[in-house]
Amino acid sequence: MVERSRYSQVAIWLHWIIAIAVITNIGLAGLTEDLPREVRGVYMGYHKALGVTILVLSVARLLWRLGHKPPPLPNTTPVWQAAFAKTIHFLFYVLLIGLPLSGWIWMSSAPAPFSYFGLFEVPLFPVAGQKALGDALHSGHELAGTAMFFLIILHLLAAAKHQFIDKDNLIRRMWPA
Ligand code: HEM
Repeated sequence: MVERSRYSQVAIWLHWIIAIAVITNIGLAGLTEDLPREVRGVYMGYHKALGVTILVLSVARLLWRLGHKPPPLPNTTPVWQAAFAKTIHFLFYVLLIGLPLSGWIWMSSAPAPFSYFGLFEVPLFPVAGQKALGDALHSGHELAGTAMFFLIILHLLAAAKHQFIDKDNLIRRMWPA
């Protein structure tokens, strides 16, 4: 396999599309909280459909990642920093798949059918009426949503440290051009 200094174009585009979608979805849930019920329902409809899209794209990204080694970190990277980055990236995958899945199964347990941007009804998991499962996933979804928020902040702080303190231009590895 050829050793590259940057991520592949597929990995780069999936990274940025998923990043924008996740931030939008956190915004849709967080910023619409005080709106009237019906209006919020419309935004949460988009939240659910976008969440399912994120799940599909994240599974695609994980499969791509399993077949394509990421570029190695600069050999000046301290061991603890490499281990920290690896842990954060692993946690991202856990949340990118677990968070939307928890929302989807939670809605299936109600059952609360929802459409994919008005195009078709999204199939539900066969767990209708399982209230205890729904309650657990409800709490899990909120907890995972908060964890995702803090993970994004941590990731951004790390990127800013590389860009402005270390000045090693590490972002180039994940930049589309
Ligand atoms: C990566 C995708 C997703 C992200 C980042 C995300 C994030 C969030 C966040 C941050 C909250 C607010 C939690 C709180 O109140 O503390 C939330 C609430 C919620 N999410 Fe998601 N979510 C995603 C996917 C989904 C999916 C796929 C569904 C359902 C199919 C879903 C259904 C809901 C519902 C029903 C609420 C609660 C709204 C309420 O308070 O009434 N989410 N989500």
